[in-house]
Amino acid sequence: MRRAFVVTSTVLLVVFALQFVFAAVGAFTRPAGEDAYALHSITGMAVIPALTLLTTLCAVLAKAPGRLVVLTVLPLGLTVLQALLAGLADAFTDASGGSTTLGLIVGGVHAVNGIIAVHVVVAVVRGAGRWAQPAAADAPARSAEPV
Ligand code: HEM
Ligand code: HEM
Repeated sequence: MRRAFVVTSTVLLVVFALQFVFAAVGAFTRPAGEDAYALHSITGMAVIPALTLLTTLCAVLAKAPGRLVVLTVLPLGLTVLQALLAGLADAFTDASGGSTTLGLIVGGVHAVNGIIAVHVVVAVVRGAGRWAQPAAADAPARSAEPV
């Protein structure tokens, strides 16, 4: 199960990185329409939450240290926050449907929170890698600490 934890967390990191690409796909699609962000939307609302849960399941089954298991749940919370921020950014428009400063700030926070989330996943991948090392099996307490 330790290998499975490494594999699922690595796949999650790759999908997170792709999510930035899909955001760019949305931004550069012409003409800019409702469905420009379809890939970003599906990945953020379905693929990332499912893969995050799978990673947490693997962490639990691999008997990873509690702190590492909690770390695997964090990207799910941050992704839910992403959906809220995206909704808020959309909601803060003026009477004619144009963007407002507040809406753009919330949208900017969505981008920054995305960068934070991807680095939480980097930490998960590193933790999974350490946990999969043979030494971790012999010294569970010490292996949980940063090298
Ligand atoms: C303002 C933007 C960003 C800043 C300031 C930043 C900063 C950093 C820093 C300081 C590290 C090293 C962490 C460590 O060694 O413990 C790192 C690692 C990493 N970042 Fe970023 N990052 C940014 C954007 C991104 C984005 C957009 C992505 C992917 C979509 C990304 C993916 C990664 C990955 C995969 C690593 C791990 C690399 C490794 O294994 O050494 N970063 N980042
Ligand atoms: C890993 C990082 C990210 C995650 C997990 C993420 C996740 C999400 C989620 C869950 C939604 C809501 C989708 C929906 O309501 O259908 C969303 C929407 C959106 N995201 Fe991100 N996002 C990330 C990074 C970014 C970045 C870097 C940008 C670029 C600025 C961006 C731009 C947008 C936009 C414009 C929307 C609204 C799309 C629409 O109106 O359909 N996202 N994102």
